[in-house]
Parts: sequence; structure tokens; C-alpha cells
Amino acid sequence: MKFDLNKKENIDLLYNHALNAYKNSYSPYSNFKVGACVLTDDGKFIYGTNIENASFGLTNCAERSALFNTYSLGYKKENILCLAIVGNSKNNEVISPCGACRQVISELMDKLTPIVLFNIDKTYKITNISELLPLSFSNEDME
Ligand code: THU
Repeated sequence: MKFDLNKKENIDLLYNHALNAYKNSYSPYSNFKVGACVLTDDGKFIYGTNIENASFGLTNCAERSALFNTYSLGYKKENILCLAIVGNSKNNEVISPCGACRQVISELMDKLTPIVLFNIDKTYKITNISELLPLSFSNEDME
């Protein structure tokens, strides 16, 4: 399946799906909603959102939720065409994945698979995990 990120309609599609996930956010403590979706090579959009907990450390970010859902459904990194994330970032121009999520993404996605970071106003930036987490620690370091 081809998915051309130069096409506005595809960017719109990714944004709309990530926004659906954003609306499902369970974030009563931070009130900061984040939505993510993984597009798979069979055309499925698999959602993730941030799920908080009164014991703050147990919070799961949207990106990790989406990737864990994706793997739970039987997909692997080679089936992932892209990951999109949306949040209402006040500091960066677009949502910036946390360090823990970058480490998890580096394990579960290919280095150059596109990651589309959106702000709620649909401003976006296309990147990948090589750019987001250079010099990352991986299983290759232990061989
Ligand atoms: N959060 C995400 O889900 N993804 C990000 O990229 C940044 C932060 C969540 C975690 C927490 O529920 C809330 O946003 C505030 O940190």
C-alpha cells in the first residue's frame, strides 16, 4: 500500500484519525490531551491516547498506547507505514514526544518510517525516530 505524505488529503486523513484518538484522552490530572494513530500496510488506522492514573508514574502516553495496540493486534515494525501524533503544544510548534516514547518508538518502528507531529491547528512536521532519537541505545549495542 502506498501512502504519499506529499498529498494534502493524506495529511488530512492522518490528522483526523489522530484527532479521533485525541478526543478519547483520559487525562483528568494534566488536562493535556494527546492522540496518536499508526497506519498499517493493510490500511488500518490503529489509535492510541494518553491514559493517566492517580499514581502519576503509571500514565501511558498516546504514542506508546498506539504502538502497543498495533503490536497487540499482530502487526510488526515492517507493517507500519507511519505514526501520527497530535497535541495542543504551547511551547513547540508541534507535539514533541517524550523521551520514554522516543525509546519505545526506536524499538518498535523502523528508523526511517515517517512520524507526523501535529499541533491541534494542523500545523505539522514530518520526521522519523533517527532524527528524534539520535545515538539511541538498542539491542545492537548488546551484541
Ligand atoms: N503525553 C503524551 O501522551 N505524549 C506526548 O508526546 C507528550 C506527553 C501525555 C502524558 C500525560 O498524560 C500528558 O501528556 C502530560 O504530560
